[in-house]
Amino acid sequence: MKLLVVGGGGREHAIIKKLKENPQVETVYALPGNGGIAADAVCVPEIGAKETAKIVDFAKAHEINFAVVAPDDPLALGCVDRLHEAGIPCFGPDAKAARIEASKVFAKNLMKKYGIPTARYEVFRDPGAALEYLRGASFPIVVKADGLALGKGVLIPQNLEEAEAAVKSIMEDKTFGDSGNEIVIEEFLTGPEVSVLAFTDGTAIAPMVSSMDHKRAGDGDTGPNTGGMGTVAPNPCYTPEIAQICMEKIFLPTLAAMRAEGCPFKGCLYFGLMITPDGPKVIEYNCRFGDPETQVVLPLLKTDLLTVMQAVENGTLDRLNVEWHSGAAACVILASAGYPGSYEKGKVIAIPEDLPENVAVYHAGDKLAEGRLVTNGGRVLGVTATGETLEAALKDAYAATERVEFEGKYLRHDIGKRALSAMEG
Ligand code: AMP
Ligand code: GLY
Repeated sequence: MKLLVVGGGGREHAIIKKLKENPQVETVYALPGNGGIAADAVCVPEIGAKETAKIVDFAKAHEINFAVVAPDDPLALGCVDRLHEAGIPCFGPDAKAARIEASKVFAKNLMKKYGIPTARYEVFRDPGAALEYLRGASFPIVVKADGLALGKGVLIPQNLEEAEAAVKSIMEDKTFGDSGNEIVIEEFLTGPEVSVLAFTDGTAIAPMVSSMDHKRAGDGDTGPNTGGMGTVAPNPCYTPEIAQICMEKIFLPTLAAMRAEGCPFKGCLYFGLMITPDGPKVIEYNCRFGDPETQVVLPLLKTDLLTVMQAVENGTLDRLNVEWHSGAAACVILASAGYPGSYEKGKVIAIPEDLPENVAVYHAGDKLAEGRLVTNGGRVLGVTATGETLEAALKDAYAATERVEFEGKYLRHDIGKRALSAMEG
């Protein structure tokens, strides 16, 4: 079979490596892919992930049997709709269903209408009305741009002054472009955060192993927000009791709500949850695999990934038993010094060839230059290890990070620490 994966980061690399475990897979094309992915797939750097028409033409010309659209932008732009129109089976929601991530206003209104637990909120189109509301609000409070904003559209002002600055930045200065035409202002919730990715064909759902992201740049959860500096799976805060509550009050009602709204969700639905003192609540939905959650979740998948994705596409997920390995996985991101601010590119990357079998290096931001792998992004590599316990996985992941070199290599040294203390506590 010939497969196509849209995207070019660590998540896509993890998806591609997993898909290739199926012996029926002959070739995987990555559009655009990256330098490291080129070792596992045929990369097409000329075609960007948002170039829908070119992606469809490529898929037709190369007689692709199955496509996976991984990033949020192409999903929101209707890449899956166009591939389906061209008769190409694929994994991912259509544009209407992708609104669950692409519009926070859509997601919040959906949750309110169908009684799905989430933070209380108000929607504003007019900055004046937003400021008026904030004058009577208590702090901290959460201000979110409606649309996609590279994971940066959420601000948590601690006082009125910061809140006014947040509204000005999003709605007037348009820091996130048209994504800030509307904002959601919501109640600040507290509690541990859990990411649950789930395969769903719109009706049946197979939640994946839970995970925990580490979004802040610095050790001890300090510094600016990033795309994610590391992940562990499973997340110890996600107990079987919490999982059952989530299934009954959040997962199944969300799928039913999407069906009732005429936009059944097919693909990977990502539930960003907070386990509050009042029970689990939805912080956000993503219409796709998380990055770097995928880099710890997929290595624990026992069932063949392509088979699961085809069941999602065919609406037969209820007939498949999706199985997981026991044990744990940890991913430590190696970033370029300066990320998420400005950083240098083009640093030569050295990865030893004799890393242990339970270690995988997923390439996120690199490219090939004159045959050599060089850095080309903020998050460069994700080093994942699996193990019988989280301690073992973390030990092996960190040991491997020491053997991978590039100038300016930056990493957090406390990935998994919170999870380990939650297990003790
Ligand atoms: P998001 O981009 O929606 O995942 O938000 C980024 C981060 O902001 C989340 O991972 C949370 O840590 C935080 N956050 C978002 N919404 C809330 C909320 N209502 N209360 C507290 N923290 C929040
Ligand atoms: N790691 C968070 C996300 O993928 O949105």
